[in-house]
Amino acid sequence: MVFDIRIAGTDVHFSCAPDQNVLDAALRAGIEMPYSCRKGVCGNCAAAVPAGTLHSPPAEARPPGQHLLCQCTPQSDLEIAPEAWHRIDPAARKTFTAKVYRNALAADDVSLLQLRLPAGQRARFKAGQYLQVLLPDGSRRSYSMANPPHESDTLQLHVRHVPGGQFTGIAAGLAAGDTLRVELPFGSFELREEADAPMLCVVGGTGFAPVKSLLDDMLKKGIRRPVTLVWGARDRAGLYLPAAVARWQKLLPGFRFIPALQDADDARAMDGAFAGRVDDAVRAAFPSLAGHEVYCCGSPPMVAAVRQVCVQERGLEAHDFFSDAFVPGPAVR
Ligand code: FES
Repeated sequence: MVFDIRIAGTDVHFSCAPDQNVLDAALRAGIEMPYSCRKGVCGNCAAAVPAGTLHSPPAEARPPGQHLLCQCTPQSDLEIAPEAWHRIDPAARKTFTAKVYRNALAADDVSLLQLRLPAGQRARFKAGQYLQVLLPDGSRRSYSMANPPHESDTLQLHVRHVPGGQFTGIAAGLAAGDTLRVELPFGSFELREEADAPMLCVVGGTGFAPVKSLLDDMLKKGIRRPVTLVWGARDRAGLYLPAAVARWQKLLPGFRFIPALQDADDARAMDGAFAGRVDDAVRAAFPSLAGHEVYCCGSPPMVAAVRQVCVQERGLEAHDFFSDAFVPGPAVR
């Protein structure tokens, strides 16, 4: 038995088995909706369900009156009202055996892993999207591409070292010439290119990676919008790619950089730095965010704190907050 899931106000519909979650069924049918973790943590896939019955487990990230589409399963035909949706080509997702050509430490706990695709092969993705690394035990790990899409024969990953993390151990031992199996693209975090609103990018640690892709892509395409980047780290060394920031400062008119450092001494020593968390840095720098777009990447609690400041306290429209929440551990396929 399968149920029919219809997007409210459209004639777009897809099938979903009773034991399948609604987001998964939509993606397999080539319909993409906002999502990030697929584990019920980030809340990005929350949607109203105006008609039908479903099993929807309780979750902290579930807003009142909404359901997390990555967690709920249908018990009848449904009508759903996601915040956004568009059609994708499921066949555009491809698996590659990529070769490591550089693996270097960018900070004590961050590796910059550069992969090259086999000769003649190109990866097709949008800036902000992520890939999954296929590990020998069959599990997967998600990493955002840090390079822009036009550099389509390479993949740059920023790997944060997680104590005891399975891929952390593998990544540490990777040397030039080793291979990794990767599948891409995944994810709905991407630049709204048709907009011209000022952008605020708020990232924590390696949440910098997808925003780097996004800003490099803007440079390449000649998209010029005022951009403020708030990058949170423990100390100055955690801002592990200063050359990328310097390049945007030089080439993107209206680019502003606010480091948010937990180490107060480092913050004092750095021009324009804020001593404290990224959400407090946003609070201090922006009396209002009405008319802005916010792009936020980091841990689920960090994303939730930034969303709270932007939407609840600074007047940002909720639909202008885009996020990618990094949840450690195996990826959901
Ligand atoms: S909660 Fe569903 S994608 Fe994160």
